[in-house]
Amino acid sequence: MNWYEKNARDLPFRQTKDPYKIWICEIVFQQTRINQGLNHYNNFIKRFPDVKTLATAEENEVLLYWKGLGYYSRAINIHKAAQQIMNDYKGVFPSHYEDILTLKGIGKYTAAAIASICFNGKIPAVDGNFYRVLSRVFADDFDISGSKAFTYFSELAHLILPDNVGDFNQAMMDLGSEICKPKNPVCIECPLQEDCLAFSTNKISDFPVKTKKVKMENLDLKYYFVHRKGQFLIQQRKDDFIWKKLFEFPISISIDLEPFVKGVKVINHKLTHKNLQIEIADVEVNSEIVWNNLIRENKYIITDREGSHEKSFPKPLESYIQNTLKD
Ligand code: ADE
Ligand code: SF4
Repeated sequence: MNWYEKNARDLPFRQTKDPYKIWICEIVFQQTRINQGLNHYNNFIKRFPDVKTLATAEENEVLLYWKGLGYYSRAINIHKAAQQIMNDYKGVFPSHYEDILTLKGIGKYTAAAIASICFNGKIPAVDGNFYRVLSRVFADDFDISGSKAFTYFSELAHLILPDNVGDFNQAMMDLGSEICKPKNPVCIECPLQEDCLAFSTNKISDFPVKTKKVKMENLDLKYYFVHRKGQFLIQQRKDDFIWKKLFEFPISISIDLEPFVKGVKVINHKLTHKNLQIEIADVEVNSEIVWNNLIRENKYIITDREGSHEKSFPKPLESYIQNTLKD
């Protein structure tokens, strides 16, 4: 706690106890490094400053503000949870851990962070930083990939919780990301060095213990980038499988477009549990009749580079558009 008092990172959401803002920052920074996400966070809060503004916004606009952060289901959940707060909690952010947990997309870590930072709840916010710091300090070989790890490290944390759990949780986050880093921890600057068993026995690289490897699934996607005079066709994803509600290029087309294929680009892209191989056929329709037939089908949205800025695309497709339509 002394270390945190002197070394706490100066982050915009540290100036507030507004649960709405803490919630948004927890979701944003769960998936993104602080430096990379700060602009997104600030823009998001500027456009949607409170629960009500968010709850009444169009889902597609929320997605647009999430553009670039990835994991779009989190944006969809945030939007739904805001509506839940309006309907179930009269627009007032719930203050109890169990109530916070009922909100869509909020798990134990996030609920603990919000309850402790905003409402003085005495609940450790156990995340990867927590596992790492505690397992090293206690040279504890409990497997962090198992389903019991969360409860185990929560109980361990309860043994050392100070009064101000909100600051304690954030101190662990800062210590874990600035000092006790996954690789090359900066033990010489660490306030826990004297108490750290992994350090004193020179076994830092043995902790945390993690046995289960995440299985990666291979997935092939084939797209047609169908364009004419700077305009191109897109559709919005409907299934839950990946990239829910994001925009993409057509996947299959009833009209034979093979004669117009100019080339195929292959992009490899990793998601959390999937290796994607994305093939994009560049289809330049240099026949007005064919183009009009495509449009008449009415299945696709026609857009251009300008218009695409108003829509959220998966990262690899976004890069493809930017690279292909460079002026
Ligand atoms: N990452 C996620 N939430 C955080 C917080 N409150 N402080 C520091 N890093 C974080
Ligand atoms: Fe982590 Fe090193 Fe500090 Fe131990 S001494 S908690 S390994 S940074």
